[in-house]
Amino acid sequence: MSTHFENIVQREKKLLCSTYGRYPLAVSRAKGCRLYDLDGDEYVDLLSGIAVCSLGHSREDLAEVMAGQARKLVHVSNLFYQNEQLDLAERLLSTCEADRVFFCNSGAEANEGAIKLARRYTKRIKQKDAVEIITLERSFHGRTLCTLTATGQAGLIKDGFDPLPPGFTTVPFDDADALRNAVSEKTCAIMIEVVQGEGGVRPLSMEYVDAVMELRREYGLLVIVDEIQTGLCRTGKFWAHQHYGIKPDIFTSAKALANGLPMGAVLVTEDVAQGFEPGSHATTFGGGAVVSAVASKVVDIMKEEHIAERAEQMGMFVKTEAARLIRKHPEKVAGVRGLGLLLGIELTFDGKEVWKKLLEKRFVCNLTQGRILRLVPPLVIEKQDIVDFLECLDGILEETEV
Ligand SMILES: Cc1ncc(COP(=O)(O)O)c(C=O)c1O
Repeated sequence: MSTHFENIVQREKKLLCSTYGRYPLAVSRAKGCRLYDLDGDEYVDLLSGIAVCSLGHSREDLAEVMAGQARKLVHVSNLFYQNEQLDLAERLLSTCEADRVFFCNSGAEANEGAIKLARRYTKRIKQKDAVEIITLERSFHGRTLCTLTATGQAGLIKDGFDPLPPGFTTVPFDDADALRNAVSEKTCAIMIEVVQGEGGVRPLSMEYVDAVMELRREYGLLVIVDEIQTGLCRTGKFWAHQHYGIKPDIFTSAKALANGLPMGAVLVTEDVAQGFEPGSHATTFGGGAVVSAVASKVVDIMKEEHIAERAEQMGMFVKTEAARLIRKHPEKVAGVRGLGLLLGIELTFDGKEVWKKLLEKRFVCNLTQGRILRLVPPLVIEKQDIVDFLECLDGILEETEV
């Protein structure tokens, strides 16, 4: 541990609320697919700020838009019309089948907005008393009281925060019969991640998503897709639900939307948008001019540079290369799964030591559900970085006794 690192750890201990189990790394700057610590040492970034900096760190083109907009208009609030929001809305709506957008500041706020909209639309427009939101086991939807209740995980995330809001039910993952049994006339919406991120990089089956859409038709309920982590080209399509050929009533976005600036969005059909009216939902900062201008540039770059196709091809490359690891260490690597560049390499044992050694060798990735190495690199990552990472992992597995 360097003195610089020791100092920052001690400083933080005195100053911040303790909510994070931090990685043993303090980042002073980042560029492209590289992070640099306080001593100037370089790391390969396979995490991109948890699927946020999809276009890479500290880009000149985005910095220019950010600085230019900051000199022109930063904030006036949503009491005023602003072209920057509309420019972004047009761009986002051109990538999907939604008709309208509500902008906010984070993933949790987007999901909170989606839940509120689903309830209000059902009550006020459909005139139905159906409030129940069904979510899946191991899902992750955020940390506000509503979204943590929606989250299908136990443990610290819920510990000590009760009473939690009523009206949420969790069902087993990818089990269509269990879902059918849980749905009733009281169901307002089914909320899914088509690929669970925090839950261990688990895609839903096509059959399950078909069953969700069938229940939608049968009960007139709403389908909400949480695309906070999966959206914006991450899985090899602009939106992950497009792999399944469905049109959600509501879907949410955040993370990569402004490539590191905080922004969220709720995208909805024309019909469901009627659930909101002036005064029913709002946010002070949402859709501010700077984040909107940057997000517009992000969408432009993603389209112009065919980032979705790139993510898909690179994801295939990782899977092919990782398959060799599975063949070589069948007793240590259970499999690799995911879509595009939202990937999980599942180990057969507790992966903490492997993850730690990767970090020591200057590869930053994430460990989820105890034994899944989650890779969510910038979508602009080069093949050589992947090859180097897998070679390093191979060496670590070689030395690891299970
Ligand atoms: C699928 C999903 N939904 C919601 C969230 C919450 O987003 P935020 O941390 O921006 O509130 C996350 C964050 O990891 C997520 O992965």
